[in-house]
Amino acid sequence: MTRKIVLLPGDGIGPEIIAEAVKVLECVDKKFGLKLKFEEELIGGAAIDEHGLPLANSTLEKCRAAEAVLMGSVGGPKWDTMDASIRPEKGLLKIRYELGLFANLRPAILYPQLADASSLKRELVAGLDILIVRELTGGIYFGEPRGIRRLDNGERQGYNTYVYAEHEVERIGRNAFEMAMKRNKKVCSVDKANVLEATVLWREVMQGLAPEYPEVELSHMYVDNAAMQLVREPKQFDVIVTGNMFGDILSDTAAMLTGSIGMLPSASLNSDGFGLYEPVHGSAPDIAGQGIANPLATILSAAMMLRYSLAEAEAADAIEAAVGKVLDQGLRSADIWSEGCDKVSTQALGDAVVAALL
Ligand code: IPM
Ligand code: MG
Repeated sequence: MTRKIVLLPGDGIGPEIIAEAVKVLECVDKKFGLKLKFEEELIGGAAIDEHGLPLANSTLEKCRAAEAVLMGSVGGPKWDTMDASIRPEKGLLKIRYELGLFANLRPAILYPQLADASSLKRELVAGLDILIVRELTGGIYFGEPRGIRRLDNGERQGYNTYVYAEHEVERIGRNAFEMAMKRNKKVCSVDKANVLEATVLWREVMQGLAPEYPEVELSHMYVDNAAMQLVREPKQFDVIVTGNMFGDILSDTAAMLTGSIGMLPSASLNSDGFGLYEPVHGSAPDIAGQGIANPLATILSAAMMLRYSLAEAEAADAIEAAVGKVLDQGLRSADIWSEGCDKVSTQALGDAVVAALL
């Protein structure tokens, strides 16, 4: 029996970095006998150009029938001026929503070899290992009503709705507590309970879950303070759990602490463990096609896919170790390059990971 993986390269640097991840997956496939089968589909701007929509229903069905989805990135200036309803990002939001991928895991791990690439002092970030658990299918991203309306005085008004039902908070909360049990047993729930009722309820639900996980220490932090603490003393955090919009913002901040957003993978999971895996970074249209993008976040996303959706921990470990080896060899893409290292292309970095696996 083969195991079907849908590849969604998307836009910008997406196709280049997915190509490197596939190389690596083909290598571990042979080595560990995984029987992977890849099927490539369109998402984002590439899908708009082909079908007029950022995610065709047929693509969604193929994803549903697969064991996992590996995505590159979506978006670019070519589609920025399109109507909001068919922008590339809508394809990503649709796939998250339709497949019920409510749990977004965004680890921010600093590879010791890259400590000097961080914008913070080495001692503040050395050994950093945070997991952001972001709610991904609710909150202000999906709340209704939303839109831009005309007021009686003729002026236009934009509006969105920040909503969370108890069950939505509870399931992401459980996810965070479960993750913390496998780590340092600390959960920090981030909200804005001093202003927003939706997050007053969020905090109550988190507090309600805590007695079920007596070994885990639960704390709460307002989002403005959390943003500050992340750059002041990031190592105080283990697992951070938060809503969709706050998670979007804080995960970019956490990413930068590690030196480069080009290093960070992510998993978006539903309640059955089905997942979509993608790098945290975007489509970087400014460097697309030049062969200088960092493929490591996508390669590490492929490792997460093997670990969480395919239960192939050994193959996942092997990929992560190979990435470490390549960094030890001093090979770097431009975004993580520093004096004394070798600056290499996207392809060369992918090849080096494959060589390190053999
Ligand atoms: C992310 C991105 C997306 C988001 C965009 C591209 C819709 O920023 O995955 O963090 O806001 O969720
Ligand atoms: Mg984002």
